[in-house]
Amino acid sequence: MRIGVISDLHVDLNELEGEPPIEEALAQAAGERRLDGLIVAGDVSNDMNLSLAVLRGLKERCGIPVWFVPGNHDYWSKDNGIRDTWQIYRQYRTFEDCLSERPVQLDNGWVLIGNSGWYDYTMGEPGYTFEEFERMRAMDRTWQDSLYVTWGMSNREIHRYFYERLERELEEHRGKSIAMITHMLGHPYFKVPMPHPQWSYFNAFLGSTEYAELYRRYGVRYGIMGHVHYRKKHTDGGTELICACLGYRKEWRQPSAVEEIRDCLQTIVLE
Ligand SMILES: [Fe+2]
Repeated sequence: MRIGVISDLHVDLNELEGEPPIEEALAQAAGERRLDGLIVAGDVSNDMNLSLAVLRGLKERCGIPVWFVPGNHDYWSKDNGIRDTWQIYRQYRTFEDCLSERPVQLDNGWVLIGNSGWYDYTMGEPGYTFEEFERMRAMDRTWQDSLYVTWGMSNREIHRYFYERLERELEEHRGKSIAMITHMLGHPYFKVPMPHPQWSYFNAFLGSTEYAELYRRYGVRYGIMGHVHYRKKHTDGGTELICACLGYRKEWRQPSAVEEIRDCLQTIVLE
């Protein structure tokens, strides 16, 4: 099976007058690759209603499954005003290809296991205290999740919630060929390299080093993630790690969305 991998579409921020919508460009690129499925590793947009509409539209246009884990931006309450993030979380699970707490067993024996993941500051650089990370604010900049995401529990607790579910699902499928998908970074290889004036603090909000232990313990074949707006691959032991973020238009190198997506979209073959 040929599966496309992409994340961080940010369709609302990347719209440009005179250009087709991002999801149309993605559907075109997916069609060219003759994919059997598409994985979108979070951050479709800043609003649940838009993200769900885009996912459903993509699925219909492409005629293939569009497996998805919500990213932090997908949980934002900025436009819809829903302050309880769990309500948003449950809404995403109404989309049939949402992987949260619902592994997908493919006909060829492969299993897709995924959820958003979260950050627990284990990717933070030394020199900051736990209390400083808890503030989610430094150098006059605020990590926006602190304004628009309300889990009713600490970042460490929400990371634990996602981690335990991944662990349970991996245990249930132990010994199979597994692709694990998170929005947050599952491996420190993708952190922003130091020294860096801002990311020396904000790396703490990129993910958790604990997810890499899951890759190792369960022999995960593909570790797919997003969030950091990199397009990189890395191999650690038997795990191929893929970060394929479309990112913001200002970060693009190509003149049009479809060309940029062709550059960004990765294809993995599960056989
Ligand atoms: Fe993100």
